[in-house]
Amino acid sequence: MRLNGKVAVITGAGVGIGRETAILFAQEGASVVVADMNPATGTETVDLIKVEGGSAIFVKVDVSDEAQVKALFEVAISAYGKLNILFNNAGIVKQGTVEQSDVADWNAQIATTLTSVFLGCKYAIPLLRAQGGGVILNMASVAGIMGVANRAVYSAAKGGVVGLTRAVALDHAAEKIRAVYICPATIETPSLTDRINSSPDPVAARAAFEARQPIGRLGKPSDIAYAALYAASDEAGFLTGCSLTVDGGMSV
Ligand SMILES: NC(=O)c1ccc[n+]([C@@H]2O[C@H](COP(=O)([O-])OP(=O)(O)OC[C@H]3O[C@@H](n4cnc5c(N)ncnc54)[C@H](O)[C@@H]3O)[C@@H](O)[C@H]2O)c1
Repeated sequence: MRLNGKVAVITGAGVGIGRETAILFAQEGASVVVADMNPATGTETVDLIKVEGGSAIFVKVDVSDEAQVKALFEVAISAYGKLNILFNNAGIVKQGTVEQSDVADWNAQIATTLTSVFLGCKYAIPLLRAQGGGVILNMASVAGIMGVANRAVYSAAKGGVVGLTRAVALDHAAEKIRAVYICPATIETPSLTDRINSSPDPVAARAAFEARQPIGRLGKPSDIAYAALYAASDEAGFLTGCSLTVDGGMSV
């Protein structure tokens, strides 16, 4: 097992990529703190881990709220005594051009997708340092490294995650704290499936999403979970400050 004895906090682990990663990390021996604002889906993820014999707890948190993020790590430490891995995964997607977006969209996008990553890093770093090092995985997107139409505020937030991750990697490399950002293309999570199925022409909508990836299919949550597993494992000990671009060739 590649994460035996490790403790991981994963935000947004109630559904999609976060849930898939939480289950995989637990299968690989990690104790997982499932952090999400939705208790129903978050506790379901914990149940899915426990039914396989893994160890997990649920913590309700709004990742954009500093007091709640601080409390999340306090709960993690009181439950498991240490932190080895943080995956800042939670996020939202505001669609639209700059003209179509208002300040409320901007503030919500930045708070949930970028301020959350800043707060997670801020409170995790001392805990990782106390263990002689650790790993921070920050969820970016291809929208953070290339132009994606109709995603202005989302692209700004994800570009911010890229810059912040590089800064964290550089500032803390000597302390053996590695930081990596993950850039997925379109991943078929339940919210995407719903979006496709509720469009006027679901077949055409799916084909349009598939056509964006040269590899000719949508990504699966497991495509990202396995990349995250590698980055979090000791096998990736020389990997920091860079992108894990898992996008079926979209950004090529
Ligand atoms: N699905 C994709 O195609 C795709 C592509 C690139 C990047 N991403 C990024 O991957 C991450 C996960 O996306 P997904 O599609 O798997 O999940 P999703 O969007 O379906 O769900 C996100 C999860 O985060 C939680 N969440 C949202 N706001 C929160 C908050 N303020 N505090 C705590 N929890 C909160 C939700 O309850 C949910 O469980 C996001 O950061 C997203 O931007 C997704």
